[in-house]
Amino acid sequence: MLGFAELRAMIAGIDDVAYFQTSGFSPKPAPVLDDAIHWMRFQARGPALPAIADACATLVEQTRADVAAAINASPDDVMLNENATVGINIVANGIAWRPGDVVLLSDHEHPGNRVVWYEIARRHDVQLRFLPLDGADDAQLLRAAASALQAPVRIVSLSHVSRRSGRVIPAPSLSRLCAQAGVPLLLDGAQAFGAIPVDVAALGCDFYVLSGHKYILGPQATGALYVRHDRLDWLRPSWLGSRSQQTMDQHGGLVLQPSARRFEFGTRNIGDIAGFRRALHMIDAIGWPAWFAAIAERVATTIAALAPLPGVVIETPMLAEQRGGMVCLRVAGLTGSEVYHALLERAHILVSPFEPGTATVRVSLHGFTTDHEIERLASAIAALSPASITT
Ligand SMILES: Cc1ncc(COP(=O)(O)O)c(C=O)c1O
Repeated sequence: MLGFAELRAMIAGIDDVAYFQTSGFSPKPAPVLDDAIHWMRFQARGPALPAIADACATLVEQTRADVAAAINASPDDVMLNENATVGINIVANGIAWRPGDVVLLSDHEHPGNRVVWYEIARRHDVQLRFLPLDGADDAQLLRAAASALQAPVRIVSLSHVSRRSGRVIPAPSLSRLCAQAGVPLLLDGAQAFGAIPVDVAALGCDFYVLSGHKYILGPQATGALYVRHDRLDWLRPSWLGSRSQQTMDQHGGLVLQPSARRFEFGTRNIGDIAGFRRALHMIDAIGWPAWFAAIAERVATTIAALAPLPGVVIETPMLAEQRGGMVCLRVAGLTGSEVYHALLERAHILVSPFEPGTATVRVSLHGFTTDHEIERLASAIAALSPASITT
């Protein structure tokens, strides 16, 4: 068994700055780095030596199995990659677009779940529509989705947890609506994986993308794409290479891997994969329910500390089951950037601003976040005001 105090002690520099930015990039515990380095050193002795190459290939498959287990998927349905956005690109570029097709997004999507669709729209004469998450409760959101699905929607692509408000969308109900309409649902789990339980079978989605470098505490540039088996051949793989094939000949004959492994090709960094696996094993050592419970409790404690402060508006839902691992808030009269800089430069507290020109900041919590850090955050925010920024 591992505890959060021990986990915290494994993170170098954790006391230098109060780190409320795990939803962007997490700090990394030493065992994650140790395994990454260990495997890079091991491989460096001769990457092409059969014993070394085989051990590395086995590690990749073990990591795939561990990621699959973490989201209740079959390993055959999981592609390992560098980040959530890679998975979104594979899906977006894998659809046989027809002019007039519609892509349904929401008004809370990260650029990673917007840019590629915007380009698809320009290139293929596809229309984009946006479900409004602001001001819509779950019932209203579902009604809006049902109505939007009357159009020729080719895919719905939504964040499982909104990075704009920290709200968990009603994904199972949305996936039922999509299934009734025969429209695939992609869930962007960048803000969900490692923060709340993710069970792709229960969610009923067709595709799920995730990052390993956020709440999981894995190395930078780790992630995965889940492709439900019946959607595998629906996607036309746009990038392929060595290892994508099951068989091929010298005359153009090609049979692709009958699994999501077909999207993987070429040479990759074994250190990232080893570190990703070790990060998952650290959660095993703490226990996944305890991991999620600690994050939820830290979020609740932070809301309780910040909500009473004058001028602070909490944008994250008050219902615990609608929350992920973050608290989004704004401070009256200040931009998000002003809050971010004041907290970092005056109080050594790192949060994340939302987008330039907006007032929201995002505070992400983790099991390693201490009471003292939450108290420091509350005192520092209490001291903020438009007048304090100009002085
Ligand atoms: C909702 C959401 N989607 C996608 C991303 C991009 O993640 P990645 O860097 O793993 O591609 C982020 C990053 O913060 C995010 O919050």
